[in-house]
Amino acid sequence: MLEKINQTADYLKKATTYRPLVGIILGSGLGELVNHIKEQQVINYEEIPNFPVSTVEGHSGKLIFGLLGGKQVVAMQGRFHFYEGYDMKQCTFPVRVMKALGINTLFASNAAGGMNPDFVVGDVMIINDHINMFPEHPLRGKNYKELGTRFPDMHDAYCKELIATAKEIAKEKAIDLKEGVYLGTQGPTFETPAEYRMFYRMGADAVGMSTVPEVIVARHGGMRVFALSVITDMWYDGKPVEVSHEEVLEAANSAQPKMTAIMTALIEKM
Ligand code: HPA
Repeated sequence: MLEKINQTADYLKKATTYRPLVGIILGSGLGELVNHIKEQQVINYEEIPNFPVSTVEGHSGKLIFGLLGGKQVVAMQGRFHFYEGYDMKQCTFPVRVMKALGINTLFASNAAGGMNPDFVVGDVMIINDHINMFPEHPLRGKNYKELGTRFPDMHDAYCKELIATAKEIAKEKAIDLKEGVYLGTQGPTFETPAEYRMFYRMGADAVGMSTVPEVIVARHGGMRVFALSVITDMWYDGKPVEVSHEEVLEAANSAQPKMTAIMTALIEKM
């Protein structure tokens, strides 16, 4: 595993002149941010040794190096989901590679189903904590101390300082930012009404099929994390709601300018 990570990082160091400290993972329908990245050097996942290849509709697989908010960044357009069949080590491999490239702060985004009744479709939620409901853990197995400690603390998984700054930015820009707990589950089915109800009662405000494994690996590697969910569909207690992938992508697409504005301003202020 260590060899693979270093091999991939070495390849990327040769393929780009950038040496970013900021990594970004963009979720479904949330790729607009990359249009704001200047002086891009783009590398398709297919070209990157040891990288899995993304399969799901609406996710294109590219690594984009460039400048955002005046800072060097590397953005993943398209991530690897557990439901696609990758194991957790594969899903989180790019985060390991980012760490090996020198990334110290990870920005992540996703589309999520809202359960908190204060939310509406199109809201953007700061993730301030998570619940891991994936059936496999990305840190299961041998722990390489070069990568991190055996039993990582998860108290401050989501950087409080970055959350505070994001809230200030939202205030300045008059963006209504929500905040809450993201529950990660394997998918690919959306939740049954009983499952939404269970997750809400468990303490989650939003549910999705990604991010949690990446955040765990980022924290294992000692990176700071900031993550946003775009609420693409809502479950309200007692009200049956249907959801489709198309609706999720459409809602994500229309809400993404807010997400892009927050992330860009936050990176600028770092
Ligand atoms: N559930 C799980 N994942 C999701 C949802 C949802 O309602 N919406 C977008 N991703």
